[in-house]
Amino acid sequence: MASVVSPEPELLTPLEEVMNLEREYLLQNYARYPLALHRGKGCYVYDLEGNRYLDLISGIGVNSLGYAHPRITKVIRQQAGLLLHASNLYYHEYQGRLAQRLAKISGLNRSFFCNSGTEAMEGALKMVRAHGNSISASKFEVIALDNSFHGRTLGALSITGQPKYRKDFEPLLPGARFVERNNIPALEAAFSANTAGIVLEFIQGEGGIYPISEAFARRAHELAAQHNAFLVFDEIQCGVGRPGAYFAYQLLDPPLLPDIVIAAKPMGCGLPIGTVVANEKAAVSIKPGMHGTTYGGGPLVCRVALEFFDILDELLPSINTVGGYFRMRLTELMRKFSFIKEVRGQGLMIGVELEIPGKDLVLDGIKEGVLFNCTHENVLRLLPPYIITEQDVDRALTAIVKVFRNVKPR
Ligand SMILES: Cc1ncc(COP(=O)(O)O)c(C=O)c1O
Repeated sequence: MASVVSPEPELLTPLEEVMNLEREYLLQNYARYPLALHRGKGCYVYDLEGNRYLDLISGIGVNSLGYAHPRITKVIRQQAGLLLHASNLYYHEYQGRLAQRLAKISGLNRSFFCNSGTEAMEGALKMVRAHGNSISASKFEVIALDNSFHGRTLGALSITGQPKYRKDFEPLLPGARFVERNNIPALEAAFSANTAGIVLEFIQGEGGIYPISEAFARRAHELAAQHNAFLVFDEIQCGVGRPGAYFAYQLLDPPLLPDIVIAAKPMGCGLPIGTVVANEKAAVSIKPGMHGTTYGGGPLVCRVALEFFDILDELLPSINTVGGYFRMRLTELMRKFSFIKEVRGQGLMIGVELEIPGKDLVLDGIKEGVLFNCTHENVLRLLPPYIITEQDVDRALTAIVKVFRNVKPR
């Protein structure tokens, strides 16, 4: 069982009551695990009864600095007493500074801020469409990958290469062309004069932690340039420090610069934010009045993101070393547990592919006091906070081994 180490275990609303209320009043679109979180500190979260869990999923890659990080908490407290929201009718001090910071680390000069990953995808798609439209009425096609995930809004769904997410909402936007990951001949065949853009995750997240090959990425870059189409990297899950670099495309040597990169999750440390970062050519596709949002780029989240980037500068080296250590320790488990098929990933984005379904193991993990999730049916996905240490990894491994020992022989 998860250990009860909360200093003053408090019994708040009982879990059953929380679950019943949601069952009665919420759209039933989520299949939640039977766990209600109350508070967190560092890499650990506590449920309503004070049980402690080592968090290896960080709110699906969002709680990048864990819980109650003192520097983030301080900034939030200060800004809450000054100005939470300004709207985009007016200026405030932090949006321009955050854009300047993103330009410095991404190599792309102009940002737009919104409130989630899927919204960033929509912004990028509008840029792709506007660019194509300015050339010809038939230049609206967007190439994306089989098994990709780009969000739940209708535009983002249109280029999400997993039928299970799309099927209930068709017809979606016309012009999406799906290509198998790393299949260069198929990529070449998909490009034409009608291609306005190509959208790639450098490491597919929801799809099961699958990287694209360097050759594939470079060919996509060349073909996009040849066909005057925008190359868009969706780094919502695989970027912003998680791969041990500011962005995953910077892992290549020489780095490969897209026209647009979209990012979200880790930047807000738990507050909602999304961003589209574009080069000058892509940026001019959006003219005054063509796009906007009420909340995007507000002072609170921009200030938090600026603080996050200051902290990330210090953390980048350890993301690589701790991530490498984590993968190495997991790979060692392959000798003990024959149902582990592969351990893969980059930095602190890790997938453990199993020969067996992974969903029940997630529940067993909760019982052992460790949180991770399962994607693509059989890939245990680990997206721990960037502050995780090798000691925490050792603790995680002890719990994971217990979970694996419980797997019944098939
Ligand atoms: C690669 C990728 N793109 C887009 C999204 C959508 O982001 P959001 O859930 O913030 O809308 C996600 C979310 O997991 C993602 O992993």
